[in-house]
Amino acid sequence: MTAPFQKLALPGRVELVSNPAGLPKIRVTGAFSTAEIYPHGAHVTQFQKNGEPPLLFLSRQSLFAADKAIRGGIPVCFPWFGAREGAVMHGIARLTTWELMETAADPAGRVKLMFRLPPEPLLAAGWPPAHVTLTVSVAEKLTLDLAVRNDTAQDFVFEDCLHTYFSVGDISQVEIIGLKGVQYLDKVEQFARKLESDEAIKISSEVDRVYLNATGAVAIRDAKWRRIISVAKSGSTSTVVWNPWQAKASAMADFGDDEYGGMVCVESGNVGDSKVALKPGQSAALQVVFSSAPWP
Ligand code: BG6
Repeated sequence: MTAPFQKLALPGRVELVSNPAGLPKIRVTGAFSTAEIYPHGAHVTQFQKNGEPPLLFLSRQSLFAADKAIRGGIPVCFPWFGAREGAVMHGIARLTTWELMETAADPAGRVKLMFRLPPEPLLAAGWPPAHVTLTVSVAEKLTLDLAVRNDTAQDFVFEDCLHTYFSVGDISQVEIIGLKGVQYLDKVEQFARKLESDEAIKISSEVDRVYLNATGAVAIRDAKWRRIISVAKSGSTSTVVWNPWQAKASAMADFGDDEYGGMVCVESGNVGDSKVALKPGQSAALQVVFSSAPWP
């Protein structure tokens, strides 16, 4: 990764560093914001708009190893989401080193990077080696585009999810807006099907919900940090909301016992019955735009 990377580095904008555990990391310095991205998983672990607290939560206990997923940031779940018998949780993409293919910075200081999932791990796991890219745009907003082109001769049916961990001031003062009237599967109650009745969802215990046919934007109102985060998306019919709360947090080796109080996941993708089916030659595009503003 180092040799091709050097050709794509943009001095002062896109630089290769490495974290204390030795895993290569790309530091992006834009005019409006900064970001950090690991080729391991094409995993965005940090995005911070100038003058604001970090947007993304990253666990202080995250492992940074080739065979482990990073805990926090934006794991790319692909080509499946959740548990799968005999296979790793949330798909192979977050455990694969993606290739950096392109970098660009415009004169205003917006920076773009494009990664490609190498086809070999897909093939090795018995999946069609489709053409899969993740484009990360670092500007006033953070935009992720996951593009899948089935250039194989077989049908390709997959799940995808940008499993975003947001950093919040205090989970007990957070409200999630935009899902009222949407049906969901409650994973905390054996996938019971329920209807969201709350205009403003509050979290005071473990929450693990897959909202169905959820195509709209979601806002996260953070009263402690006086910030509103917006998650706007296209090409996605599933929204997942997750907070492990106390007991699950303590049970996870790569998650601090008290860290559940400073994060919430609002994930955008196509999972379960909403999986994506591509015939040979077809493409799918998932885009998520993350923005934030002070809450007056
Ligand atoms: C969420 C799932 O998306 O991810 C949860 O809905 C899961 O069930 C969580 O616990 C974290 O998964 P992992 O594999 O990163 O520990």
